[in-house]
Amino acid sequence: MKVKLSVQRTDPESGKTGYSKYEIEAPENTTVLDALIQIREYEDGTLALRCSCRSAICGSCSMRVDGQARLACRAKIIALTRGNEEQELTVEPMGNMPVIKDLVVDMESFWAKVRQVDPYIQPNVEPPPDEEYRVPNESMLDLTHTMNCIMCGACVSDCTVLEVDKNFIAPAALAKAYRVTADPRDGKAHERLEKLSEYGGIWDCTRCNMCVEVCPKGVAPMNRIMQLREMAIEAGITNNAGSRHTAIFTKSITDGGRLNEVWMVPGSVGMFNIPRMTKEMPGALRMMRVGKLPLGQAIPPGLPGSHKISGMERVRNLIRKSASLKPRKPEVVES
Ligand code: SF4
Ligand code: SF4
Ligand code: FES
Repeated sequence: MKVKLSVQRTDPESGKTGYSKYEIEAPENTTVLDALIQIREYEDGTLALRCSCRSAICGSCSMRVDGQARLACRAKIIALTRGNEEQELTVEPMGNMPVIKDLVVDMESFWAKVRQVDPYIQPNVEPPPDEEYRVPNESMLDLTHTMNCIMCGACVSDCTVLEVDKNFIAPAALAKAYRVTADPRDGKAHERLEKLSEYGGIWDCTRCNMCVEVCPKGVAPMNRIMQLREMAIEAGITNNAGSRHTAIFTKSITDGGRLNEVWMVPGSVGMFNIPRMTKEMPGALRMMRVGKLPLGQAIPPGLPGSHKISGMERVRNLIRKSASLKPRKPEVVES
């Protein structure tokens, strides 16, 4: 099979970036990693890449193939090109991390964020002498997807929030935070959730779903972040814009059947947060001019006379139904 690759190259000394094009003959089941290794062995010994297990276990070969982070050892070329041997694949290093050389990135910021969430269980009780902690099976079942993480960095590479805000803890570390916070042996859940509710934490995710899409191990970091949000709200950690936004959003829908645009911002940032309300004012005026802040929604949701759509009963039925489908949530263990 003919394989065509365009590989991003970075000179570590000058920092200059360009693309090298390669065309090789390879067996039908060749992966992107196999092809890169073949290139490095027989065509161009200067090509730098990272790999180890070649079996989707070690997490070291993450890179972008045609713009999306993948494990190169799992990325079959025939599947990516749909068998079209003339199609060239573009191979680039992971995003959101500085490039050291070619396809090798510096993962220090990735590990720093993992360390930031204290990724180890901190029990507040000693197990009985000569015994182990006994953990209910169902708690561990809930954690199995998170425990599958191989720290490959693919989710961090493609996280859209991290791209614009380096302070964001990012999906891999937040998934790890869920793994320890939801573990019944951990005694620091409340403190962890408080810390995770600060700027850069669980409320900064925009739910773009990229981390779910690219994760090769089904960890679904975004879903873990949503579970952490629920745990934080249930633990009463609600004095933050993210949690207030969720509350006003829910109230708006359950009360009136649609978003109450007039009260979304004051409800989220806090009515008496004068600096923030002042900052939002120009946007609010623009929305008003184009009829996006209807006067009919001037009464806050939940108060007598607040706006309601027709057919509210159907909305309530949907809400009841979705509430009954909610997955079981892990308990917050107080420290
Ligand atoms: S869903 Fe959230 S954590 Fe995942 S990639 Fe998007 S912004 Fe990042
Ligand atoms: S959550 Fe998935 S994509 Fe992110 S580091 Fe772990 S295995 Fe890789
Ligand atoms: S080489 Fe280990 S995951 Fe790809």
